[in-house]
Amino acid sequence: MRALTWHGKHDVRVETVDDPGIVNPRDAIIKVTSTAICGSDLHLYDHYIPTMQAGDILGHEFMGEVVEIGPKSTLKIGQRVVVPFTIACGSCYHCGKAQFSACDNGLPADNQDIAREAYGQPMSGLFGYSHMTGGYSGGQAEYVRVPFSDVGPIVIPEGIEDDKVLFLSDILPTGWMAAENCDIEPGDTVAVWGCGPVGLFAVQSAFLLGAERVIAIDHFPKRLELARRFGAETINFEESDTYEALMLMTGGIGPDAVIDAVGLEAHGLFVDNVVDQIKASTFLGTDRTHAIRQAIIACRKGGRVSMPAVYGGFVDKFPLGAFMEKGLTLRTGQTHVQKYLPALLAAVLEDKIDTTFLISHRLPLEDAAEGYKLFHDQQNEATKVVLKPGLSTAT
Ligand SMILES: NC(=O)c1ccc[n+]([C@@H]2O[C@H](COP(=O)([O-])OP(=O)(O)OC[C@H]3O[C@@H](n4cnc5c(N)ncnc54)[C@H](O)[C@@H]3O)[C@@H](O)[C@H]2O)c1
Ligand SMILES: [Zn+2]
Ligand SMILES: [Zn+2]
Repeated sequence: MRALTWHGKHDVRVETVDDPGIVNPRDAIIKVTSTAICGSDLHLYDHYIPTMQAGDILGHEFMGEVVEIGPKSTLKIGQRVVVPFTIACGSCYHCGKAQFSACDNGLPADNQDIAREAYGQPMSGLFGYSHMTGGYSGGQAEYVRVPFSDVGPIVIPEGIEDDKVLFLSDILPTGWMAAENCDIEPGDTVAVWGCGPVGLFAVQSAFLLGAERVIAIDHFPKRLELARRFGAETINFEESDTYEALMLMTGGIGPDAVIDAVGLEAHGLFVDNVVDQIKASTFLGTDRTHAIRQAIIACRKGGRVSMPAVYGGFVDKFPLGAFMEKGLTLRTGQTHVQKYLPALLAAVLEDKIDTTFLISHRLPLEDAAEGYKLFHDQQNEATKVVLKPGLSTAT
């Protein structure tokens, strides 16, 4: 089959690789019809995530048709499914608490030590996201093996086009969980750093969960415009000082809750960000944490900090003093996608959440390398790139 493989920094290629097969009784094989490139994939593309190996197949946002099932899969051949990016068993201690991204059994036994050493405990598996998260082949391919297919995939009703439901695989539940982690109360103002796909779904979700005002921050005009479309007020951090603007907009109090939807590759010529960049490029540090630092400083006293954004390693200049003195609460994590799928699918089908506004490019899988370059280099125009195996020309 054809699949997008990783070969190093800014080097991804569509190649012919072996077809996947059933390995475990609960597996299913999915013929991919749509797969998206995520901001998390850019962290791999820029080679910030360790334990990647040349030839790894990328992709964790995908959907398609069931073409083969193991004897213990509950899926049926021919069903259309969206697959969560988190690989979880459904029956361990953590899955029992609906904390699917903390599943004890998501990683193959011989991959568990890497995460145990880095984080103290192994996490759930992730598709196409390094050997620390299981070394699973991803879905930016014609076919993909889905473990625990009796737990993760959600069946899509007939007649619903892919574009409407594809983002249930990751960014919609991620934006939703980010807003839910804000414990929004009536009258609240929520500030969202980053108007990428995750930030934009967090904006919609915060309003649906009862926020009175949402303030979205970025520097790309098209992305800010999308946030305004959903009723957010916006701050362009290249035109105004974000902290000053937030204080002005909230009567000096600060937002009740803040969401970091930027992550470890923050942009901007800020002193701390430039220092982080130098440290990352000289292996003295890992993550550029400007957004979460600023969010903590701007949050109102007693407020809530939600961090869907991905960080991988160790940080310094973290404002722990401000965090403690202001009595803030922090909630974060890879999304427990399986927990949210039934309710979010219903919300999408009832048109309570808009999912199709985001897609700027639909490309054939064969053009996946170009898709990565677009999403990486032209973030203003490329708001979300979807790859379709079998598509003959871009739309
Ligand atoms: N927790 C999860 O399960 C989960 C799932 C999906 C994505 N993520 C993470 O969420 C983050 C966002 O993902 P995305 O797909 O929206 O990525 P993206 O790269 O498309 O968007 C990030 C946005 O942040 C903006 N930004 C950069 N620096 C900023 C700053 N200083 N202030 C304000 N905005 C700034 C960028 O301009 C960009 O629009 C990434 O770190 C990604 O890895 C986490
Ligand atoms: Zn993703
Ligand atoms: Zn589990």
